[in-house]
Amino acid sequence: MENIVILTGAGISAESGMGTFRGAGGLWENQRVEDVATPEAFARNPEMVQAFYNGRRQKAATVAPNAAHEAIARLQRDYPGTVTLITQNVDALHEKGGSPEVIHMHGELAGALCAACDHRWTAPAEMPVGHPCPDCGAPAARPDVVWFGEMPYHMERILDALTTCTLFAAIGTSGNVYPAAGFVQEAFRAGAHTVEINLEPSAVVSDFAETRFGPATQTVPAWVDDVLGG
Ligand code: APR
Repeated sequence: MENIVILTGAGISAESGMGTFRGAGGLWENQRVEDVATPEAFARNPEMVQAFYNGRRQKAATVAPNAAHEAIARLQRDYPGTVTLITQNVDALHEKGGSPEVIHMHGELAGALCAACDHRWTAPAEMPVGHPCPDCGAPAARPDVVWFGEMPYHMERILDALTTCTLFAAIGTSGNVYPAAGFVQEAFRAGAHTVEINLEPSAVVSDFAETRFGPATQTVPAWVDDVLGG
């Protein structure tokens, strides 16, 4: 049985208008990572961190999935083997595009997490500073996203999928952030064929056996056609 593992990053949502992190016009050009995407930043300046994620959450609510998200959902539905979809994205565009199952390794904008007791619930569109946890009452609500210095979610399940995969594709990710940037090597060790699908070569392009460059709305549907047809 063939096992496909797909890893997606901000590039797949770029043409939906979500914006990427790195490069010209990227989020990290105007905003320092250390100011909004670390536990230390949240402890130091929760107003700034909540404002950043409230803005991202509200933006995410206005955007629509594109042809790349839809093509992946089609692959998940129509492929006779297993397709494991892992995303670093905190938006819900894979779900909106029809994906039946998505592993959000960096969490979700739609989620709230209690920093005191780890309870999870649906985030309000505007999460105020000191919002009380509905379970323990601590004024410790935070976005349920994985910050730099924190452990990504679902790693055991992800490593299980990678060690048995036969085809691995990384789509729209710059290859700068680990552990995701190292998944290609796990897949290679498992004997999988590896494909990078991105606008331009990523930082780890040399680890891939095959590359396909161009905008995701064109390259991803074409790749899915090839996988389903071949
Ligand atoms: N189609 C395909 N790829 C694109 C497109 C497009 N239309 N537009 C941009 N890209 C590519 C860029 O060339 C770049 O290589 O998408 C990649 C996006 O890279 P990053 O902005 O670094 O995003 P990502 O790799 O997902 O970042 C990983 O970093 O800050 C953290 O937690 C955040 O999950 C994120 C992680």
